[in-house]
Amino acid sequence: MPTDSLTVIDNRTGASYELPIADGAIRAADLRQVKVDGDDFGLMSYDPAFLNTASARSAITYIDGDRGILRYRGYPIDQLAEESTYLEVAYLLIHGELPTIAELRTWSDVITHHTFVHESMKRLMEAFRYDAHPMGMLISSVAALSTFYPEASDVDNAETRMLQAHRLIAKVPTIAAWAYRHNRGVPYVYPENDLGFTGNFLSMMFRMAEPRYSAHPVLERALEVLFILHADHEQNCSANAMRAIGSSRVDPYSALAGAAAALYGPLHGGANEEVLKMLAEIGDVRHVPDYVDRVKAGDFRLMGFGHRVYKNYDPRAKLIKQTADAVFEVTGRNPLLDIALELEKIALEDEYFVSRKLYPNVDFYSGIIYQALGLPVAMFPVMFAIPRTAGWLAQWLEGSVDSEQKIARPRQVYVGAAERAYAAIGDRRAIEVTSG
Ligand code: CMC
Repeated sequence: MPTDSLTVIDNRTGASYELPIADGAIRAADLRQVKVDGDDFGLMSYDPAFLNTASARSAITYIDGDRGILRYRGYPIDQLAEESTYLEVAYLLIHGELPTIAELRTWSDVITHHTFVHESMKRLMEAFRYDAHPMGMLISSVAALSTFYPEASDVDNAETRMLQAHRLIAKVPTIAAWAYRHNRGVPYVYPENDLGFTGNFLSMMFRMAEPRYSAHPVLERALEVLFILHADHEQNCSANAMRAIGSSRVDPYSALAGAAAALYGPLHGGANEEVLKMLAEIGDVRHVPDYVDRVKAGDFRLMGFGHRVYKNYDPRAKLIKQTADAVFEVTGRNPLLDIALELEKIALEDEYFVSRKLYPNVDFYSGIIYQALGLPVAMFPVMFAIPRTAGWLAQWLEGSVDSEQKIARPRQVYVGAAERAYAAIGDRRAIEVTSG
């Protein structure tokens, strides 16, 4: 009779163990009973980069990487992108259900109410060098927010947790826009409470002397779609950072600054910046085949391609491609699009990419849109961080009340020296060190 269990035979001892299987997983801690003798610590599983380790039970985001499926709280991403606003999706991620009309009104009011930041935050941001990377400014400023809300450290209080979630969703766009204004050397623009979430963000970014800034409705909607597509992506590098840092019971501002730092890297949210640099370097459609050859030779990676989980077309990339068409109707065509399309065409037919199941990911087309909106490449990871704030918070809130979670603390396989006698300074041999 089949049972939901795994029988393990330890060939070192001949002992047999039965490990229960639940939701397609065994518990790694169950391996600890597998011991050679009483002094043995017990068997561990070694999984660098968490290739096959579930670190949480989560009800937020579902991905089927082989079939190219992404759902937030059960809703397919394409339906959310077509029908919803970003604020509705943020509510869905945080609270688990789409809001009713009344709930959405209250939620929008609450978020709008929190968009202002303390004037000292402004002075803090003004202290950055004129050309500071906006992501560095965002990470530092979000961390600094914790000093304005000391009560946020009471992470065991549900109301306090939710208040910080509101503040972060509301204030991250303000900080993001001010980082951009700082680089441009133009005055910071305060939030406008009668504008929607994306309309207000565009106003804080682009308003100059006009008394009121009205974003083009197509561009505002395109940004809304981009924000929805970037809002969460289950246990990725930055969500894992958010949960791991949060597991120490630190305040969510500090945890979110860490998550944003994880997002900044070129293999994660920094990839869209790298895609644009790559397309600019290729420079012309005619150079694409040569470039692909160099990728295949291992000179560098094709940025915006490949994904740890998707082994099919990233469903977000499909939707972003459609959004790009709508944006270019308004802004004019970004000439880099032709290079991107050619790159995608060649790569999707090439055995190297086909056999490794490398498809365009979310970052492949998003940068081209951001550039068409007039944003410098340095702002791209910031544009990712704004909507991902809701996802990070949903992950953090879920982890905070999960009775199975404790402080994140992986094991290691120690491969260093065994115990040895202390060497006095005169007895030590010089080693070669890299000069930095
Ligand atoms: N270009 C060329 N070859 C690639 C690429 C790429 N972009 N990605 C993976 N490969 C190859 C890799 O060399 C390896 O080949 P081989 O088996 O011959 O050694 C094979 O494909 C498997 O790669 P991997 O490094 O084991 O895959 P991974 O799951 O560890 O990496 C990834 C996932 C996203 C880091 C990687 O695909 C990559 O570096 N992509 C480029 C950066 C990028 O676009 N990142 C954005 C990810 S999506 C948004 C986000 O997470 O923020």
